[in-house]
Amino acid sequence: MVIEDITGIICQLRETAFPAIENLIKKYGADNPSKLFSADYKPFFIGNIKIKNPVISAPMAGISDNTYRIFARYFGSSLLYSEMITSYGLFYGHEKSIKMTYATEFERPFTLQLFGSKPEIIASAAQMLEEKSEIIDINMGCPVPKVVKTGSGGALLRDEDLIRQIIKKVKQTIKKPLTVKLRLGWDFNSINIEKTALIAESEGADAIAVHARTVRQGYSGNAEYSHLRDLKKKLKIPVIISGDIDNPFKAYKLLNDTNCEGIMIGRAARGNPWIFAAILIGIILLDRNLFDENGADLEKKFKKDIDYFLNNDIKVKILILYLKSLIHFMEEEKAVKEFRKILAWAFRGIRNINDIKKDFFEINNFKEAEKIMDSLIGM
Ligand SMILES: Cc1cc2nc3c(=O)[nH]c(=O)nc-3n(C[C@H](O)[C@H](O)[C@H](O)COP(=O)(O)O)c2cc1C
Repeated sequence: MVIEDITGIICQLRETAFPAIENLIKKYGADNPSKLFSADYKPFFIGNIKIKNPVISAPMAGISDNTYRIFARYFGSSLLYSEMITSYGLFYGHEKSIKMTYATEFERPFTLQLFGSKPEIIASAAQMLEEKSEIIDINMGCPVPKVVKTGSGGALLRDEDLIRQIIKKVKQTIKKPLTVKLRLGWDFNSINIEKTALIAESEGADAIAVHARTVRQGYSGNAEYSHLRDLKKKLKIPVIISGDIDNPFKAYKLLNDTNCEGIMIGRAARGNPWIFAAILIGIILLDRNLFDENGADLEKKFKKDIDYFLNNDIKVKILILYLKSLIHFMEEEKAVKEFRKILAWAFRGIRNINDIKKDFFEINNFKEAEKIMDSLIGM
């Protein structure tokens, strides 16, 4: 099948989604809605790279591919990350790892995230990638046993000296800005975020992101932000907060309470790329005092308005474009398999479509997907 090029897909995405976004903003009385959505809002710098607003999409292995990133960008995410890529794989020239480093012009500024445990290997891999991204990031938080077993990811939080060596070596080797993504510590008995953050800054990291859980927690329990309240007071470099952020009210409160520069959205954006617009618009409206109600009612009302303006029919159209983009970047068969997951996430929690949901997992090609999507229009 012939799929439009990515520029065409992006044009259609804008035509489909932007009027809805503008109408949502207009409803709250803001002037010039398209400017409000696309202008800089509380920008900050990571090294010499301008990040135009605080809303950032998180790196997610198996998820944050080209399509995910392009859609996150067009809904407002100011910075995009690759999935984590093995520094060993890059160092030894493995094709699969090299393929993961590809990003289009629509994904800038773009951060390539590496994982590993050997300073020289990470530094060499980072050097190989310098021309491919605006920022290099090192993963220091992944809890997956396969990664931790090799001393990489979250395992590094148990070896502060190695963290120092890695950042120092990479910083000496590359010219591009360097960031690290940390967690609070290995476990609750060894919370060391303040120490690792200060090491990162003193060795020249240009920003940090912190997932507010321990490595041992994995993704269980709740993110615990109390450890981040005073962190920013001790650091000059930007801090990005990650963990359980899924609405503008929480994002706004966290940004204000901690003075951190950014917030990251991960799981809540799976199958739900419009969440970046909802959060960005929400925090701008909160900042401008454009909500005329308080508390829980306000949250409910805003959520209802988002669902009204970015309604089911628009979402279906956006998702078809998402599938076209997946097919642009990979073979149709693989793209359709990816898309099944996206659909299940996009329609999670929605009643009335349980019968259709099982059909999501039987889609085998674009035509079948389109047919199912058509049946979702008007639901
Ligand atoms: C499926 C999945 C894959 C992830 N992969 C990565 C990764 O490659 N690199 C990384 O730094 N964090 C990774 N994370 C962690 C997220 O970036 C984020 O910090 C975490 O999910 C908490 O944010 P959330 O509650 O918004 O999802 C991953 C998380 C999930 C759920």
